[in-house]
Amino acid sequence: MMAKEWIEKAICFVKERFAKDASGHDAEHTFRVYRLAMKLNEKENGDPEIVALSSLLHDVDDRKLFDPSEEAAKRFLESLGVPEGEKQAILKNIEEVSFKGSDSKTPDTIEGKIVQDADRLDALGAIGVARSFAYGGAHHRKLYDPKEPPILHMDDEAYKKHESTTINHFYEKLLLLEGMMNTEEGKRRAKKRSEYLKSFLEEFLEEWEGKR
Ligand code: ADP
Ligand code: NI
Repeated sequence: MMAKEWIEKAICFVKERFAKDASGHDAEHTFRVYRLAMKLNEKENGDPEIVALSSLLHDVDDRKLFDPSEEAAKRFLESLGVPEGEKQAILKNIEEVSFKGSDSKTPDTIEGKIVQDADRLDALGAIGVARSFAYGGAHHRKLYDPKEPPILHMDDEAYKKHESTTINHFYEKLLLLEGMMNTEEGKRRAKKRSEYLKSFLEEFLEEWEGKR
């Protein structure tokens, strides 16, 4: 099988796997991450096949949606007949990509760094605002509560357990992402998207107080 067919198959696999999710963590998130990753790769020159398959599969074993012991990515890659070395590289990238509070890992390879940057970019900007409130709604969270201050610098355990308002999520995760970007192009885009978030927060808080 050719790489192009692998990618087409991966796209179909993702569509099926995320068919029922509407919490901002759906197949379209994965496809945006895939498009962003391919864009970043134009500047970073990683292996396009590894970037494509790692980005398309980066959330198929996400612990928040699935049972990771299913090893869906591994089984899918095996069903395609992806060679062992390439398969291991993709699985390692997927493992390293996800955000785990202050325990986050930096991927070793350029392909992993690109996919992690692309995933983080999709949590920023206008899309990031939309996804956050979609997530907050799906989890019955408050938009905002001035009596609940954000908690910074949580480790993996604390971050998993923590429940708070959607506005706090901006301070607890989203605004930290810009400083965690790996690639030059990722940094450039994160800066723009972070500025957008900050102006959104400013407007939101002023409207909350009735100042505007
Ligand atoms: P991914 O694994 O794709 O990086 P997550 O599963 O952590 O993303 O989150 C999915 C989306 O929901 C992201 O846009 C993220 O910012 C948002 N989100 C995650 N946790 C919260 C939260 N506590 N409040 C609001 N939005 C959240
Ligand atoms: Ni993701």
